[in-house]
This record gives sequence, C-alpha cells and structure tokens, in this order.
Amino acid sequence: MIFVTAQLCEGMKKMIVLKSQREIEKMKKSGELLAEVHQQIKKLIAPGITTWEIEEFVDRFLREHGATPEQKGYKGYQYATCASINDEICHGFPRKEPLKEGDIVTIDMVVNYDGALSDSAWSYAVGNVSDEANKLLEVTEKALYLGIEQAKAGNRVGDIGHAIQTFVEGQGFSVVRDFIGHGIGAAMHEKPDIPHYGLPGKGIRLKEGMVFTIEPMVNIGAYQSKMDNNGWTARTVDGSLSAQYEHTIAIMPDGPMILTEQKKSL
Ligand code: MF3
Ligand code: CO
Repeated sequence: MIFVTAQLCEGMKKMIVLKSQREIEKMKKSGELLAEVHQQIKKLIAPGITTWEIEEFVDRFLREHGATPEQKGYKGYQYATCASINDEICHGFPRKEPLKEGDIVTIDMVVNYDGALSDSAWSYAVGNVSDEANKLLEVTEKALYLGIEQAKAGNRVGDIGHAIQTFVEGQGFSVVRDFIGHGIGAAMHEKPDIPHYGLPGKGIRLKEGMVFTIEPMVNIGAYQSKMDNNGWTARTVDGSLSAQYEHTIAIMPDGPMILTEQKKSL
C-alpha cells in the first residue's frame, strides 16, 4: 500500500509520496539491474568506443532483462541514456563520435522494471586521464556518499546539500546549482527537491519511506551552466570538466538504503 502524506513542500503544493516496504523492495530490484548495467558499461569504456554503442548496449540489455529505459520518450528525450562528455554537465546526447583517451564521460539512466523506477548516473575515465580529472572523479563520488550519510529520518534536506557543498568547495571545486536531485517513485521526478548545496538544519525534514536521488554535479571551475541549442545539454560556462555520481536512496528506520549500489568487484 502506498502511504501518501499531504506534506506541503516549501510553498509548492505538491505531495511527497512515502513508499511502502513492498514498493521499496520493487525499486531495489530495479536499482540492482541498473547497477549491473553500470558495471557492464565500466567494462566497455575505452578509447574508441562511442556513446552511441553504449546507448545501444543499454537499450538491448534492459529489454533482454525485462526492463525498459524510462528516459526514452520522456518529455521528448529520445534516448535510453544521457552521455555527457568532459565539460558537459548533464543531458548529453549519445553520439557516434569515439571517446578519446583522457576524456571523462557520465552515463545517466532511469530504469523501469515492472513499474518500479530507479535512477543512477556514473562518471567514467576513458583510458588514462589527467591528475586533475582523476581528482574530480574521486571528489564527486566521495561527495555523493557524504550526502547519502546525511539522508536519515529526522535530518533536514539542507544537511545533505551542506555536507556535499562544504566537502566539494574545500577541495577547490564547485557544485552545480541549476540541477538538483529529486523524489522518485511512480514518476521519474517527484518531491522532494534535493539541492546539492545548502545550510544545515534548513529545508524539509526527512522521513522514513522517502525515496529520492542524490546526484551531485561537480565542476573544476565555476558552478554556472549554459544550455546548448538542442535545449537539453548543459555544459560548464568556462569549459572546465564536470563529473556526476548519482544513487537512488530510500530512507529506512536504520538510515539510508542505496537502491542502485554496485556490487564490489573483486
Ligand atoms: N536521469 C536524470 C535525473 O537524474 C533525468 C534525465 S532527464 C531525461 O534526473 F529526460 F533525459 F530523462
Ligand atoms: Co539520473
């Protein structure tokens, strides 16, 4: 059963839908499949492969496993994946241009498995990358996990953003403001909003049964973004590299549960 609470979110008359144990279990199955896709992608990434080939792999893999790519057709978006290279922050289109040694690329997707959605983005190094790019990847992934640590019942949404922002800025990088995490459930984008910046103790209080994404986008240079003419792809204003790591998480009685966690490889 879905438990709906009529909590008003900072003046926006939209409800936060709390998820039942059963729904969270279904979303976890969806998330496990998504995590497996990312681990397959990791093996494919190398200089010479195109993000179009990754797109085709993901589309086929999901369908072979009884799932569908939720992003395809969403508000007119045409692909199963977003593939954002180097200074592209998010919503890059898969394309037939080979990745080059030293590039970084973020693959983002939403999986629909038996009606349950999960959302996860991951950044990958293509061959050997610069020390600076490596640091960006490490800092962004760490920032995601520091945010997740704060995602527990009783904390506030600002605690998540604050943990991410202070860490990232302390490392000399910046947090993208124009795109934020979101609730997820029957719909890809639900309440609450999850900014990756903010003040501790501010914003809505987190409750058991909330399911949302935490998905910090981190730039080496300025945090500002600009939009490409295609109306989708955002990139850094100064051309600096941008990385992103995203998990879907559920707030459980004993803390956050990561629904899209990748199994440790041996
Ligand atoms: N996966 C994205 C997110 O993290 C949404 C992509 S927008 C789409 O929210 F239209 F491409 F699906
Ligand atoms: Co995503």
